[in-house]
Amino acid sequence: MSSSHAATITPARRLGGRLCVPGDKSISHRYAMFAALADGPSTLANYAPGMDCRSTLNCLQLLGADISATSDRATSAITVMGRGLGQLRSPAHILDCGNSGTTMRLLAGILAGHPLTAQMTGDASLSRRPMRRVIGPLEQMGAQIESVDGRPPLTVRGGKLRGIAFRPEVPSAQVKSAVLFAGLLAEGVTSVTEPVATRDHTERALAAFGGRADVSGLVVSVQPGQRLVGQSLTVPGDFSSAAFWFIAAAAFPGSRIEVTNVGLNPSRTALLAVLRRFGARVTVTPSEAGGNEPIGSVTVEHERTGVVVIAPDEVPGLIDELPAIAALAAHGGEVAVSGASELRVKESDRIAVLVAGFRALGIDADERPDGFVVTGRSTRPAGGVADAQGDHRMAMAFAIAALAAEGPSTIDGADAVGVSYPEFFETLERLVR
Ligand code: S3P
Repeated sequence: MSSSHAATITPARRLGGRLCVPGDKSISHRYAMFAALADGPSTLANYAPGMDCRSTLNCLQLLGADISATSDRATSAITVMGRGLGQLRSPAHILDCGNSGTTMRLLAGILAGHPLTAQMTGDASLSRRPMRRVIGPLEQMGAQIESVDGRPPLTVRGGKLRGIAFRPEVPSAQVKSAVLFAGLLAEGVTSVTEPVATRDHTERALAAFGGRADVSGLVVSVQPGQRLVGQSLTVPGDFSSAAFWFIAAAAFPGSRIEVTNVGLNPSRTALLAVLRRFGARVTVTPSEAGGNEPIGSVTVEHERTGVVVIAPDEVPGLIDELPAIAALAAHGGEVAVSGASELRVKESDRIAVLVAGFRALGIDADERPDGFVVTGRSTRPAGGVADAQGDHRMAMAFAIAALAAEGPSTIDGADAVGVSYPEFFETLERLVR
């Protein structure tokens, strides 16, 4: 197997082992951003190694935050010299967000509250993604944002903002976070009322840096002018990366995988209930340590192969895991998802790319406007060539599905795993039995 442009996947009988996964991508972005806005230095251990979180650091450096890797390479720690809330400086260059929607949307909120003009660009995938969802509320607060018909590149002219009470139409942690970041730099209170709860890492990270978000049901509000203080924090293992191994363990008879030091924030772990519904045995052991983000170890063992129906209100809690969940049925069983049209505006159109890729591997898959149905058979699929279309989570989902095939398969665009999980293919090789 190689992690260059194409990867070859050889069939596996089962998977087993104990491992750690890299630091959480969502939490790493937020810790780096809060560290840049805090007073004094922060040390962030187990910072996510993928390209997305690297893009955030590059942008923050251009905005004047001094960032370095600590001398202890084993902990993958970085040090960020904070500039203080509202003290970022005008960037001398365009801010390149690469493939990272989180970088662009959250930074839009931060830039909106600074008296500066900054341009943000991204790669071909990010340039297709919708930005009106952040432009709307940030302009309502007083920023001016130019886009190309609601898509990147964005030019943000920030300055004096006023707090708003915002009700996003789509449940999105990125949108909520952009508005909350801007709210820290606005006049008056800013609140976001979500249609369905989304991941709450921004609220928790704000508290970790000495600030406060007030949460009441689906309403989150922040006061401006809080003082944030640099911290020493450890990023938990990324549950969404561990998800590929949990799903593989659940799908393949005789498999058992344990992931230690993984984030167990309840807004991210809905997959565990899905795995139990499918028929897997799931054991969760919370750890003492972890600060504002719960962590622990999770063991998943295959028991049965079942049918899983994902309802629309479950989608926000599973949004990044849905491509991998499809792979649950590669070996038998069925997965049906609806209410997930948001998947069409991720790093790729994850409904179309998923169905095309699964079919190419010989697995029955049907596209729905807002979801998909994957039906496994009792015999192994033939295998084939699946194209990840440059999308990291699609590459990993295809790799897991391809393990169930009769013969070797090829995943085109496999190097996309570098966005969130650079060591994915090496780890896969280690876990295959
Ligand atoms: C993220 C939120 C989700 C998720 C993305 C990371 C975040 O996006 O899909 O991978 O870190 O806030 P949306 O907010 O667009 O749903």
